[in-house]
Amino acid sequence: MDTTILQPAAWTDVGEPDDFPDGAVWPVVAGGMPIAMFRQGESLHALHDLCTHGNARLSDGYVENGRIECPLHQGLFDICTGAACGGPVTEAVRSYPVRVRDGRVEVATPLLP
Ligand code: FES
Repeated sequence: MDTTILQPAAWTDVGEPDDFPDGAVWPVVAGGMPIAMFRQGESLHALHDLCTHGNARLSDGYVENGRIECPLHQGLFDICTGAACGGPVTEAVRSYPVRVRDGRVEVATPLLP
């Protein structure tokens, strides 16, 4: 499954780069959707904030070695790609493009009909 959205998309301001410290996960809302935000060094990443295995928020999970661990059954997702990489999860979680413009972090989400 392709986990990256295609056009058209809307960019939503979710804060400043310093709002997202390295090694942590932060919940935001972009385009009306729950998003889990991550920083890895200078890179920012956005994943859909719902585990593909059950009803758990990834933003309640734990970041370790470039992966987010789901708080419910300890499934693992790559924070850069959303790929499932351990535990009971077999389906990737959607990832969203992130950019920094004029000192603000923006996340692209699909335009709602
Ligand atoms: S709900 Fe996330 S691993 Fe089960």
